[in-house]
Amino acid sequence: MKFLRKPRSQPAAFLPLCWLFLRILQPGHSHLYNNRYAGDKVIRLIPKTEEETYALKKIHHQFKVDLWQPSSISYVTEGTVTDVHISQNASRALLAFLQEANIQYKILVEDLQKVLENGNSLPTQRNRRSLSEYNYEVYHSLEEIQSWMHHLNKTHSGLIHMFSIGRSYEGRPLFILKLGRKSRADKRAVWMDCGIHAREWIGPAFCQWFVREALLTYRSDAAMRKMLKHLYFYIMPVFNVDGYHYSWTHDRFWRKTRSRNLRFHCRGVDANRNWKVKWCDEGASMHPCDDTYCGPFPESEPEVKAVANFLRKHRKHIRAYLSFHAYAQMLLYPYSYKYATIPNFNCVESAAYKAVKALRSVYGVRYRYGPASRTLYVSSGSSMDWAYKNGIPYAFAFELRDTGHFGFLLPEMLIRPTCTETMLAVKNITMHLLKKCP
Ligand SMILES: *[C@@H]1O[C@H](CO)[C@@H](O)[C@H](O)[C@H]1NC(C)=O
Ligand SMILES: *[C@@H]1O[C@H](CO)[C@@H](O)[C@H](O)[C@H]1NC(C)=O
Ligand SMILES: [Zn+2]
Repeated sequence: MKFLRKPRSQPAAFLPLCWLFLRILQPGHSHLYNNRYAGDKVIRLIPKTEEETYALKKIHHQFKVDLWQPSSISYVTEGTVTDVHISQNASRALLAFLQEANIQYKILVEDLQKVLENGNSLPTQRNRRSLSEYNYEVYHSLEEIQSWMHHLNKTHSGLIHMFSIGRSYEGRPLFILKLGRKSRADKRAVWMDCGIHAREWIGPAFCQWFVREALLTYRSDAAMRKMLKHLYFYIMPVFNVDGYHYSWTHDRFWRKTRSRNLRFHCRGVDANRNWKVKWCDEGASMHPCDDTYCGPFPESEPEVKAVANFLRKHRKHIRAYLSFHAYAQMLLYPYSYKYATIPNFNCVESAAYKAVKALRSVYGVRYRYGPASRTLYVSSGSSMDWAYKNGIPYAFAFELRDTGHFGFLLPEMLIRPTCTETMLAVKNITMHLLKKCP
Protein backbone atom coordinates (compact mmCIF):
# COMPACT_ATOMS: atom_id res chain seq x y z
CA MET A 1 0.00 0.00 0.00
CA LYS A 2 2.91 2.24 0.70
CA PHE A 3 3.90 2.24 -2.98
CA LEU A 4 0.44 3.20 -4.09
CA ARG A 5 0.35 6.36 -2.06
CA LYS A 6 3.74 7.58 -3.23
CA PRO A 7 3.71 10.11 -6.04
CA ARG A 8 4.68 8.94 -9.53
CA SER A 9 7.80 11.02 -9.49
CA GLN A 10 9.57 8.24 -7.62
CA PRO A 11 10.20 5.57 -10.24
CA ALA A 12 12.51 3.58 -7.98
CA ALA A 13 9.71 2.90 -5.56
CA PHE A 14 7.40 2.06 -8.40
CA LEU A 15 9.61 -0.63 -9.84
CA PRO A 16 8.97 -3.32 -7.25
CA LEU A 17 5.28 -2.93 -7.88
CA CYS A 18 5.71 -3.46 -11.62
CA TRP A 19 7.83 -6.46 -10.86
CA LEU A 20 5.13 -7.81 -8.59
CA PHE A 21 2.52 -7.42 -11.31
CA LEU A 22 4.72 -9.16 -13.80
CA ARG A 23 5.10 -12.06 -11.43
CA ILE A 24 1.37 -12.33 -11.04
CA LEU A 25 0.65 -12.06 -14.73
CA GLN A 26 3.37 -14.49 -15.71
CA PRO A 27 3.46 -17.29 -13.20
CA GLY A 28 5.54 -19.22 -15.71
CA HIS A 29 8.54 -17.66 -14.07
CA SER A 30 7.90 -19.58 -10.90
CA HIS A 31 8.71 -23.15 -11.69
CA LEU A 32 6.34 -26.02 -11.52
CA TYR A 33 7.19 -28.68 -8.95
CA ASN A 34 9.95 -26.44 -7.56
CA ASN A 35 12.00 -26.98 -10.68
CA ARG A 36 12.78 -30.53 -9.59
CA TYR A 37 12.98 -31.87 -13.15
CA ALA A 38 15.46 -29.28 -14.46
CA GLY A 39 17.91 -30.99 -16.78
CA ASP A 40 16.30 -34.41 -16.32
CA LYS A 41 16.33 -36.53 -19.45
CA VAL A 42 14.14 -39.14 -21.02
CA ILE A 43 16.21 -41.72 -22.84
CA ARG A 44 15.01 -44.44 -25.18
CA LEU A 45 16.97 -47.68 -25.14
CA ILE A 46 16.53 -50.69 -27.31
CA PRO A 47 18.67 -53.59 -26.16
CA LYS A 48 19.69 -55.84 -29.05
CA THR A 49 21.11 -58.85 -27.25
CA GLU A 50 20.63 -60.82 -24.08
CA GLU A 51 23.82 -59.32 -22.67
CA GLU A 52 22.60 -55.81 -23.28
CA THR A 53 19.27 -56.62 -21.67
CA TYR A 54 21.07 -58.02 -18.67
CA ALA A 55 23.28 -54.96 -18.44
CA LEU A 56 20.24 -52.68 -18.55
CA LYS A 57 18.54 -54.59 -15.76
CA LYS A 58 21.65 -54.29 -13.66
CA ILE A 59 22.10 -50.56 -14.13
CA HIS A 60 18.41 -49.92 -13.53
CA HIS A 61 19.02 -50.43 -9.81
CA GLN A 62 22.30 -48.58 -9.80
CA PHE A 63 20.97 -45.42 -11.43
CA LYS A 64 17.53 -45.23 -9.84
CA VAL A 65 15.78 -44.54 -13.11
CA ASP A 66 12.07 -43.85 -13.35
CA LEU A 67 10.76 -46.30 -15.95
CA TRP A 68 8.21 -44.83 -18.32
CA GLN A 69 7.87 -47.75 -20.63
CA PRO A 70 7.48 -50.63 -19.88
CA SER A 71 6.18 -50.22 -16.34
CA SER A 72 8.49 -52.81 -14.81
CA ILE A 73 12.13 -53.69 -15.43
CA SER A 74 11.15 -57.36 -15.65
CA TYR A 75 9.44 -56.59 -19.00
CA VAL A 76 12.59 -55.28 -20.63
CA THR A 77 13.63 -57.67 -23.38
CA GLU A 78 15.61 -57.72 -26.59
CA GLY A 79 14.17 -55.60 -29.33
CA THR A 80 11.61 -53.82 -27.19
CA VAL A 81 11.55 -50.13 -26.50
CA THR A 82 12.47 -48.98 -23.03
CA ASP A 83 12.01 -45.33 -22.08
CA VAL A 84 13.58 -44.13 -18.86
CA HIS A 85 13.44 -40.83 -17.05
CA ILE A 86 16.66 -40.01 -15.22
CA SER A 87 17.92 -37.06 -13.21
CA GLN A 88 20.43 -34.67 -14.74
CA ASN A 89 23.25 -35.84 -12.49
CA ALA A 90 22.69 -39.53 -12.97
CA SER A 91 22.20 -39.11 -16.72
CA ARG A 92 25.88 -38.34 -17.31
CA ALA A 93 26.95 -41.61 -15.76
CA LEU A 94 24.21 -43.49 -17.56
CA LEU A 95 25.17 -42.07 -20.95
CA ALA A 96 28.82 -42.89 -20.30
CA PHE A 97 27.82 -46.42 -19.42
CA LEU A 98 25.70 -46.82 -22.55
CA GLN A 99 28.50 -45.60 -24.78
CA GLU A 100 30.95 -47.91 -23.04
CA ALA A 101 28.63 -50.89 -23.40
CA ASN A 102 27.79 -49.87 -26.95
CA ILE A 103 24.05 -49.96 -26.25
CA GLN A 104 21.99 -47.92 -28.69
CA TYR A 105 20.04 -45.05 -27.24
CA LYS A 106 18.27 -41.90 -28.20
CA ILE A 107 17.62 -38.90 -26.01
CA LEU A 108 13.90 -38.22 -26.31
CA VAL A 109 13.85 -35.29 -23.91
CA GLU A 110 16.84 -33.10 -23.11
CA ASP A 111 15.24 -31.10 -20.34
CA LEU A 112 12.11 -32.50 -18.81
CA GLN A 113 11.35 -29.36 -16.82
CA LYS A 114 11.11 -27.38 -20.05
CA VAL A 115 8.77 -29.88 -21.66
CA LEU A 116 6.63 -29.89 -18.55
CA GLU A 117 6.31 -26.13 -18.51
CA ASN A 118 5.74 -25.73 -22.25
CA GLY A 119 3.18 -28.44 -22.82
CA ASN A 120 0.57 -27.28 -20.37
CA SER A 121 -1.10 -23.96 -19.93
CA LEU A 122 -0.28 -21.87 -16.92
CA PRO A 123 -2.69 -21.75 -14.02
CA THR A 124 -3.93 -18.28 -15.00
CA GLN A 125 -4.71 -19.39 -18.54
CA ARG A 126 -6.70 -22.28 -17.22
CA ASN A 127 -10.34 -21.69 -17.06
CA ARG A 128 -11.28 -20.34 -13.67
CA ARG A 129 -14.48 -18.69 -14.84
CA SER A 130 -17.83 -20.23 -14.22
CA LEU A 131 -18.24 -23.96 -14.45
CA SER A 132 -20.64 -23.54 -17.34
CA GLU A 133 -17.61 -22.49 -19.39
CA TYR A 134 -15.49 -25.40 -18.20
CA ASN A 135 -12.49 -25.85 -20.43
CA TYR A 136 -12.14 -29.47 -21.53
CA GLU A 137 -8.89 -28.82 -23.37
CA VAL A 138 -6.71 -28.34 -20.32
CA TYR A 139 -5.78 -30.75 -17.57
CA HIS A 140 -7.70 -30.18 -14.38
CA SER A 141 -6.73 -30.66 -10.77
CA LEU A 142 -8.73 -33.07 -8.63
CA GLU A 143 -10.48 -30.17 -6.90
CA GLU A 144 -11.55 -28.72 -10.24
CA ILE A 145 -12.79 -32.09 -11.47
CA GLN A 146 -14.82 -32.63 -8.33
CA SER A 147 -16.38 -29.15 -8.52
CA TRP A 148 -17.24 -29.87 -12.13
CA MET A 149 -18.94 -33.11 -11.10
CA HIS A 150 -20.96 -31.36 -8.40
CA HIS A 151 -21.93 -28.73 -10.93
CA LEU A 152 -23.18 -31.31 -13.44
CA ASN A 153 -25.06 -33.12 -10.70
CA LYS A 154 -26.95 -29.88 -10.05
CA THR A 155 -27.46 -28.66 -13.58
CA HIS A 156 -28.14 -31.96 -15.38
CA SER A 157 -30.12 -33.87 -12.82
CA GLY A 158 -32.21 -35.45 -15.57
CA LEU A 159 -29.27 -37.34 -17.01
CA ILE A 160 -26.61 -37.32 -14.30
CA HIS A 161 -26.51 -38.57 -10.78
CA MET A 162 -23.34 -38.25 -8.72
CA PHE A 163 -22.56 -40.42 -5.74
CA SER A 164 -19.62 -41.68 -3.74
CA ILE A 165 -18.67 -45.35 -3.40
CA GLY A 166 -16.29 -44.87 -0.48
CA ARG A 167 -13.13 -43.07 0.49
CA SER A 168 -9.52 -43.21 -0.57
CA TYR A 169 -6.59 -44.01 1.70
CA GLU A 170 -6.19 -40.32 2.48
CA GLY A 171 -9.93 -39.91 3.01
CA ARG A 172 -11.02 -38.36 -0.28
CA PRO A 173 -14.47 -39.34 -1.57
CA LEU A 174 -14.52 -41.71 -4.55
CA PHE A 175 -17.06 -40.09 -6.84
CA ILE A 176 -18.94 -41.71 -9.68
CA LEU A 177 -21.21 -40.13 -12.28
CA LYS A 178 -24.15 -42.23 -13.33
CA LEU A 179 -25.10 -41.04 -16.79
CA GLY A 180 -28.21 -42.04 -18.71
CA ARG A 181 -31.91 -41.50 -19.13
CA LYS A 182 -33.67 -42.58 -15.97
CA SER A 183 -35.75 -45.66 -16.50
CA ARG A 184 -37.80 -47.87 -14.30
CA ALA A 185 -36.56 -51.10 -15.76
CA ASP A 186 -33.13 -52.31 -14.79
CA LYS A 187 -31.03 -51.07 -17.63
CA ARG A 188 -27.77 -52.57 -18.68
CA ALA A 189 -24.71 -50.53 -17.88
CA VAL A 190 -21.18 -49.70 -18.94
CA TRP A 191 -18.46 -48.97 -16.39
CA MET A 192 -15.67 -46.52 -17.27
CA ASP A 193 -12.74 -45.58 -15.09
CA CYS A 194 -9.89 -43.20 -15.73
CA GLY A 195 -6.78 -42.42 -13.77
CA ILE A 196 -5.96 -45.73 -12.08
CA HIS A 197 -2.38 -44.61 -12.63
CA ALA A 198 -1.84 -41.08 -11.39
CA ARG A 199 0.56 -39.71 -14.01
CA GLU A 200 -1.58 -40.71 -17.00
CA TRP A 201 -3.43 -37.40 -17.08
CA ILE A 202 -5.01 -37.86 -20.48
CA GLY A 203 -7.25 -40.55 -18.90
CA PRO A 204 -9.23 -38.25 -16.59
CA ALA A 205 -9.34 -35.70 -19.42
CA PHE A 206 -11.03 -38.31 -21.59
CA CYS A 207 -13.59 -39.30 -18.94
CA GLN A 208 -14.60 -35.64 -18.70
CA TRP A 209 -14.70 -35.32 -22.47
CA PHE A 210 -16.99 -38.33 -22.71
CA VAL A 211 -19.49 -36.77 -20.33
CA ARG A 212 -19.35 -33.48 -22.19
CA GLU A 213 -19.95 -35.15 -25.56
CA ALA A 214 -22.83 -37.16 -24.18
CA LEU A 215 -24.53 -34.05 -22.81
CA LEU A 216 -23.84 -31.98 -25.92
CA THR A 217 -24.91 -34.49 -28.53
CA TYR A 218 -27.59 -36.73 -27.12
CA ARG A 219 -30.34 -34.61 -28.66
CA SER A 220 -28.77 -34.36 -32.10
CA ASP A 221 -26.90 -37.65 -32.40
CA ALA A 222 -29.05 -40.75 -32.80
CA ALA A 223 -26.33 -43.13 -31.62
CA MET A 224 -25.72 -41.18 -28.44
CA ARG A 225 -29.44 -40.89 -27.79
CA LYS A 226 -29.78 -44.63 -28.15
CA MET A 227 -26.83 -45.24 -25.84
CA LEU A 228 -28.24 -43.05 -23.08
CA LYS A 229 -31.69 -44.51 -23.54
CA HIS A 230 -30.68 -48.14 -23.31
CA LEU A 231 -27.69 -47.94 -21.02
CA TYR A 232 -26.37 -46.34 -17.88
CA PHE A 233 -22.75 -45.26 -17.82
CA TYR A 234 -20.98 -45.40 -14.49
CA ILE A 235 -18.06 -43.04 -14.94
CA MET A 236 -15.23 -42.64 -12.47
CA PRO A 237 -13.16 -39.73 -13.81
CA VAL A 238 -10.37 -40.18 -11.26
CA PHE A 239 -9.92 -43.62 -9.75
CA ASN A 240 -6.66 -43.01 -7.89
CA VAL A 241 -7.59 -39.68 -6.32
CA ASP A 242 -4.71 -39.53 -3.83
CA GLY A 243 -2.13 -40.35 -6.46
CA TYR A 244 -3.61 -37.89 -8.95
CA HIS A 245 -3.54 -35.13 -6.37
CA TYR A 246 0.07 -36.00 -5.53
CA SER A 247 1.00 -35.88 -9.22
CA TRP A 248 -0.21 -32.26 -9.25
CA THR A 249 1.44 -31.16 -6.04
CA HIS A 250 4.65 -33.16 -5.66
CA ASP A 251 5.69 -35.62 -8.32
CA ARG A 252 4.36 -35.39 -11.86
CA PHE A 253 5.43 -38.97 -12.53
CA TRP A 254 3.77 -40.65 -9.58
CA ARG A 255 1.90 -43.83 -10.60
CA LYS A 256 0.67 -45.68 -7.53
CA THR A 257 -1.77 -45.01 -4.71
CA ARG A 258 -0.46 -43.24 -1.59
CA SER A 259 -0.93 -45.87 1.10
CA ARG A 260 1.81 -46.33 3.69
CA ASN A 261 3.76 -49.47 4.25
CA LEU A 262 4.61 -50.76 7.71
CA ARG A 263 8.14 -51.87 6.99
CA PHE A 264 9.31 -49.72 4.08
CA HIS A 265 9.46 -46.00 3.62
CA CYS A 266 8.15 -46.32 0.04
CA ARG A 267 4.51 -45.50 -0.38
CA GLY A 268 1.79 -46.69 -2.69
CA VAL A 269 0.52 -49.79 -4.46
CA ASP A 270 -0.06 -50.27 -8.18
CA ALA A 271 -3.87 -50.11 -8.29
CA ASN A 272 -3.76 -52.19 -11.47
CA ARG A 273 -1.95 -55.11 -9.77
CA ASN A 274 -4.03 -55.19 -6.61
CA TRP A 275 -7.06 -57.14 -7.84
CA LYS A 276 -7.89 -60.67 -6.82
CA VAL A 277 -7.10 -62.41 -10.06
CA LYS A 278 -3.87 -64.42 -10.02
CA TRP A 279 -2.80 -61.72 -7.58
CA CYS A 280 0.90 -60.90 -7.38
CA ASP A 281 2.02 -63.45 -9.90
CA GLU A 282 3.86 -62.73 -13.12
CA GLY A 283 4.26 -59.06 -14.05
CA ALA A 284 3.71 -57.75 -10.55
CA SER A 285 6.25 -56.95 -7.86
CA MET A 286 6.21 -57.90 -4.19
CA HIS A 287 8.52 -55.03 -3.34
CA PRO A 288 6.83 -51.91 -1.93
CA CYS A 289 9.33 -49.62 -3.64
CA ASP A 290 8.52 -50.90 -7.12
CA ASP A 291 6.08 -49.19 -9.45
CA THR A 292 4.21 -52.46 -10.02
CA TYR A 293 3.92 -53.36 -6.32
CA CYS A 294 0.87 -55.60 -5.89
CA GLY A 295 0.20 -54.58 -2.27
CA PRO A 296 0.19 -56.62 0.95
CA PHE A 297 -2.95 -58.54 -0.07
CA PRO A 298 -5.63 -58.35 -2.80
CA GLU A 299 -7.90 -55.30 -2.54
CA SER A 300 -5.65 -53.85 0.14
CA GLU A 301 -6.18 -50.43 -1.45
CA PRO A 302 -9.46 -48.81 -0.37
CA GLU A 303 -9.94 -47.43 -3.91
CA VAL A 304 -9.69 -50.94 -5.43
CA LYS A 305 -11.90 -52.44 -2.76
CA ALA A 306 -14.59 -49.79 -3.24
CA VAL A 307 -14.73 -50.31 -7.01
CA ALA A 308 -14.59 -54.12 -6.68
CA ASN A 309 -17.49 -53.99 -4.22
CA PHE A 310 -19.47 -51.78 -6.55
CA LEU A 311 -18.85 -54.00 -9.57
CA ARG A 312 -19.68 -57.15 -7.58
CA LYS A 313 -22.94 -55.60 -6.52
CA HIS A 314 -23.90 -54.50 -10.05
CA ARG A 315 -22.30 -57.14 -12.20
CA LYS A 316 -25.60 -58.54 -13.40
CA HIS A 317 -26.28 -55.29 -15.25
CA ILE A 318 -22.81 -54.21 -16.21
CA ARG A 319 -22.05 -55.42 -19.72
CA ALA A 320 -18.76 -53.68 -20.28
CA TYR A 321 -15.79 -52.57 -18.25
CA LEU A 322 -13.63 -49.86 -19.86
CA SER A 323 -10.44 -48.60 -18.27
CA PHE A 324 -8.37 -45.72 -19.63
CA HIS A 325 -4.60 -45.62 -19.39
CA ALA A 326 -1.68 -44.10 -21.27
CA TYR A 327 0.52 -44.37 -23.16
CA ALA A 328 1.01 -46.92 -25.96
CA GLN A 329 -1.90 -46.55 -28.41
CA MET A 330 -3.41 -49.93 -27.78
CA LEU A 331 -6.81 -51.43 -27.18
CA LEU A 332 -6.41 -54.44 -24.93
CA TYR A 333 -8.76 -57.17 -23.79
CA PRO A 334 -8.29 -60.22 -21.51
CA TYR A 335 -6.35 -62.05 -20.57
CA SER A 336 -3.52 -60.06 -19.08
CA TYR A 337 -2.31 -62.75 -16.75
CA LYS A 338 -2.02 -65.65 -19.18
CA TYR A 339 -1.68 -66.45 -22.87
CA ALA A 340 -5.07 -68.12 -23.22
CA THR A 341 -7.98 -67.22 -25.45
CA ILE A 342 -11.13 -65.92 -23.79
CA PRO A 343 -14.36 -67.91 -24.37
CA ASN A 344 -16.15 -65.04 -26.17
CA PHE A 345 -13.07 -64.17 -28.19
CA ASN A 346 -14.91 -63.68 -31.50
CA CYS A 347 -17.31 -61.09 -30.14
CA VAL A 348 -14.64 -59.20 -28.24
CA GLU A 349 -12.14 -59.37 -31.07
CA SER A 350 -14.55 -58.01 -33.63
CA ALA A 351 -15.57 -55.21 -31.26
CA ALA A 352 -11.91 -54.27 -30.82
CA TYR A 353 -11.19 -54.46 -34.54
CA LYS A 354 -14.06 -52.14 -35.39
CA ALA A 355 -13.30 -49.75 -32.56
CA VAL A 356 -9.70 -49.36 -33.65
CA LYS A 357 -10.79 -48.86 -37.23
CA ALA A 358 -13.28 -46.20 -36.19
CA LEU A 359 -10.58 -44.49 -34.12
CA ARG A 360 -8.18 -44.46 -37.05
CA SER A 361 -10.77 -42.97 -39.38
CA VAL A 362 -10.45 -39.55 -37.72
CA TYR A 363 -6.73 -38.67 -37.87
CA GLY A 364 -5.17 -41.89 -39.10
CA VAL A 365 -3.78 -42.76 -35.67
CA ARG A 366 -3.02 -46.45 -35.44
CA TYR A 367 -3.79 -48.55 -32.41
CA ARG A 368 -2.61 -52.07 -31.87
CA TYR A 369 -5.22 -54.32 -30.36
CA GLY A 370 -5.43 -57.83 -28.92
CA PRO A 371 -5.15 -59.77 -25.68
CA ALA A 372 -3.11 -57.73 -23.21
CA SER A 373 -0.72 -60.60 -22.51
CA ARG A 374 0.39 -60.86 -26.12
CA THR A 375 -0.02 -57.24 -27.17
CA LEU A 376 1.52 -55.49 -24.17
CA TYR A 377 2.89 -57.91 -21.60
CA VAL A 378 1.75 -60.42 -19.00
CA SER A 379 0.50 -58.80 -15.82
CA SER A 380 -1.45 -60.32 -12.97
CA GLY A 381 -3.99 -58.70 -10.67
CA SER A 382 -5.34 -56.23 -13.25
CA SER A 383 -8.77 -54.65 -13.05
CA MET A 384 -9.63 -55.71 -16.61
CA ASP A 385 -9.01 -59.42 -15.96
CA TRP A 386 -10.84 -59.16 -12.66
CA ALA A 387 -13.89 -57.57 -14.29
CA TYR A 388 -13.93 -60.23 -16.98
CA LYS A 389 -13.54 -63.06 -14.50
CA ASN A 390 -16.37 -61.62 -12.45
CA GLY A 391 -18.87 -61.87 -15.25
CA ILE A 392 -18.50 -58.67 -17.27
CA PRO A 393 -18.27 -60.02 -20.83
CA TYR A 394 -16.65 -57.01 -22.50
CA ALA A 395 -13.58 -55.82 -20.66
CA PHE A 396 -11.17 -53.43 -22.34
CA ALA A 397 -8.20 -51.33 -21.38
CA PHE A 398 -7.28 -48.40 -23.59
CA GLU A 399 -3.72 -47.19 -23.71
CA LEU A 400 -4.24 -43.73 -25.18
CA ARG A 401 -1.78 -41.50 -27.08
CA ASP A 402 1.05 -41.35 -27.73
CA THR A 403 3.83 -43.92 -28.27
CA GLY A 404 6.55 -42.08 -26.39
CA HIS A 405 7.25 -38.77 -28.06
CA PHE A 406 5.59 -36.88 -25.23
CA GLY A 407 4.77 -39.91 -23.10
CA PHE A 408 2.98 -38.88 -19.93
CA LEU A 409 3.43 -35.22 -20.82
CA LEU A 410 0.96 -35.26 -23.69
CA PRO A 411 0.45 -31.53 -24.38
CA GLU A 412 -2.93 -30.01 -23.77
CA MET A 413 -3.16 -29.20 -27.47
CA LEU A 414 -3.54 -32.92 -28.08
CA ILE A 415 -6.41 -33.42 -25.65
CA ARG A 416 -8.98 -32.58 -28.31
CA PRO A 417 -7.74 -34.88 -31.08
CA THR A 418 -7.01 -37.71 -28.65
CA CYS A 419 -10.44 -37.50 -27.07
CA THR A 420 -12.24 -37.03 -30.38
CA GLU A 421 -10.85 -40.23 -31.87
CA THR A 422 -11.21 -42.20 -28.62
CA MET A 423 -14.81 -41.11 -28.41
CA LEU A 424 -15.54 -42.87 -31.71
CA ALA A 425 -13.95 -46.06 -30.45
CA VAL A 426 -15.94 -46.01 -27.24
CA LYS A 427 -19.18 -45.30 -29.04
CA ASN A 428 -18.42 -48.09 -31.46
CA ILE A 429 -17.87 -50.61 -28.66
CA THR A 430 -21.00 -49.41 -26.91
CA MET A 431 -23.15 -49.73 -30.01
CA HIS A 432 -21.70 -53.20 -30.49
CA LEU A 433 -23.03 -54.14 -27.03
CA LEU A 434 -26.52 -53.06 -27.97
CA LYS A 435 -26.57 -55.45 -30.89
CA LYS A 436 -26.50 -59.16 -30.60
CA CYS A 437 -22.95 -60.27 -31.04
CA PRO A 438 -22.57 -61.90 -34.46
C1 LIG B 1 -26.47 -35.14 -6.51
O1 LIG B 1 -27.71 -34.52 -6.51
C2 LIG B 1 -28.72 -35.19 -5.75
C3 LIG B 1 -30.00 -34.40 -5.85
O2 LIG B 1 -30.34 -34.14 -7.14
C4 LIG B 1 -28.31 -35.28 -4.29
O3 LIG B 1 -29.26 -36.03 -3.59
C5 LIG B 1 -26.94 -35.93 -4.21
O4 LIG B 1 -26.51 -35.92 -2.86
C6 LIG B 1 -25.95 -35.20 -5.07
N1 LIG B 1 -24.69 -35.92 -5.03
C7 LIG B 1 -23.59 -35.47 -4.41
C8 LIG B 1 -22.41 -36.36 -4.38
O5 LIG B 1 -23.57 -34.41 -3.85
C1 LIG C 1 -18.01 -49.06 -35.94
O1 LIG C 1 -16.83 -49.02 -36.73
C2 LIG C 1 -16.93 -49.70 -37.96
C3 LIG C 1 -15.56 -49.71 -38.59
O2 LIG C 1 -15.06 -48.43 -38.73
C4 LIG C 1 -18.00 -49.04 -38.82
O3 LIG C 1 -18.14 -49.74 -40.02
C5 LIG C 1 -19.31 -49.03 -38.06
O4 LIG C 1 -20.26 -48.33 -38.80
C6 LIG C 1 -19.14 -48.40 -36.70
N1 LIG C 1 -20.38 -48.54 -35.98
C7 LIG C 1 -20.94 -47.57 -35.29
C8 LIG C 1 -22.24 -47.85 -34.67
O5 LIG C 1 -20.39 -46.49 -35.13
ZN1 LIG D 1 -1.80 -47.12 -16.65
